[in-house]
Amino acid sequence: MKLQIKNLDKTILVQEGESILDALRRERIEIRSSCGGYASCSDCIVKILSNPKLINCVTFDEKKLLGNVFHITKERLACQVKDFSPENLDDPSIEIEIVNLD
Ligand code: FES
Repeated sequence: MKLQIKNLDKTILVQEGESILDALRRERIEIRSSCGGYASCSDCIVKILSNPKLINCVTFDEKKLLGNVFHITKERLACQVKDFSPENLDDPSIEIEIVNLD
């Protein structure tokens, strides 16, 4: 899945099974993550700007940290978001904005 990062004007790929946080790290894009990706710090918040149906549903751990308000804030934890696009989709892509850029 393509990941367009609006506030960096960059596009990267998220591989199957990989979280957005891991894809950003692989591409050496710095994003805060003091818990190391275990859904306990809320540093890695990203806003999902398009195609939320192409990613996994909000997890229990995200609801504990962010509340059950994704439909309003469009915020998710990059460490918990994974590609959930159907295999038969040509060129799946979502757009995000990183909230805590260093
Ligand atoms: S890295 Fe800490 S919540 Fe995602």
